[in-house]
Amino acid sequence: MTGEGPSVLKSRDVKGVAEYMKSDQCRKVFVMAGAGISTSAGIPDFRSPETGLYHNLQRLNLPYAEAVFDIDYFRENPIPFYTLAKDMDPSKFRPTITHSFFKLLDKKSLLKMCFTQNIDTLERRAGLSGDKIIEAHGSFAANSCIDCQEPYEEEKMKIAVEKGEPARCASCGGLVKPEIVFFGEGLPSSFFSTVPQLRTGDLLFILGTSLTVMPFAGICKLAPPSCPRVLINLDAVGDLGSRPDDVLLLGDCDGVVRELCKELGWLEELEDLWAET
Ligand code: APR
Repeated sequence: MTGEGPSVLKSRDVKGVAEYMKSDQCRKVFVMAGAGISTSAGIPDFRSPETGLYHNLQRLNLPYAEAVFDIDYFRENPIPFYTLAKDMDPSKFRPTITHSFFKLLDKKSLLKMCFTQNIDTLERRAGLSGDKIIEAHGSFAANSCIDCQEPYEEEKMKIAVEKGEPARCASCGGLVKPEIVFFGEGLPSSFFSTVPQLRTGDLLFILGTSLTVMPFAGICKLAPPSCPRVLINLDAVGDLGSRPDDVLLLGDCDGVVRELCKELGWLEELEDLWAET
């Protein structure tokens, strides 16, 4: 199940992770999150067979699924993205218990940084402070012109999306889109400046991601030896399992998070936090 050799963990399971988190060996916790943590909120992930977004875009007549988030294709034809954006309005969704777990880690002064690939802003909506979140693939929180970067008002964008009519920049006439990082665009500088200096004794949680997209997926490799990497995911992904300190907690993330918080004696606090969202 996991790499051979001595481990800083007493056991490579929920109990071992909880014990490590409560020990004075554990320094800070880093989180890497993907679309799997928002599926129980009603937001499909991208690649799960049948339910994943990329398997359900036939109506948009795309040359290939990821084109809907490709900047060159968007310049040519912004309609598919604007059509999809109507279903992705983050204000329609509530954070999950997994999002509240990140808030609880921060409340316990354990969280160093939450790196998320998600654009749904549910980490913020769960009450996690902005200085503890790096939205590596941007988010719907702001809109701007793809040519001159002029900001575009939220209310006007909502109307454009409702009508399915791509918004145009008042200054240069360029197309407007939410500040989501499309394929072909760079990640925010904050990602590279904050990419974790994961240290010995830190702990890295990886939740709800296929680790398909670089450079985000590369964070896993930055964890030094004796920095346990804990995967909470429906299936094994990446190189998780190859190191002695890797722990694979395979299953539904909300269920695994509840089990871990029960082991930590934090379950009631977690449920209360989630009830407030
Ligand atoms: N609990 C645990 N794991 C889950 C759950 C769940 N409830 N639901 C889905 N998963 C897992 C899937 O099995 C899969 O391994 O989450 C992972 C989701 O993978 P993807 O759909 O590829 O999503 P993600 O890794 O976030 O995609 C990365 O790809 O298209 C780009 O920019 C987009 O940020 C996105 C990036």
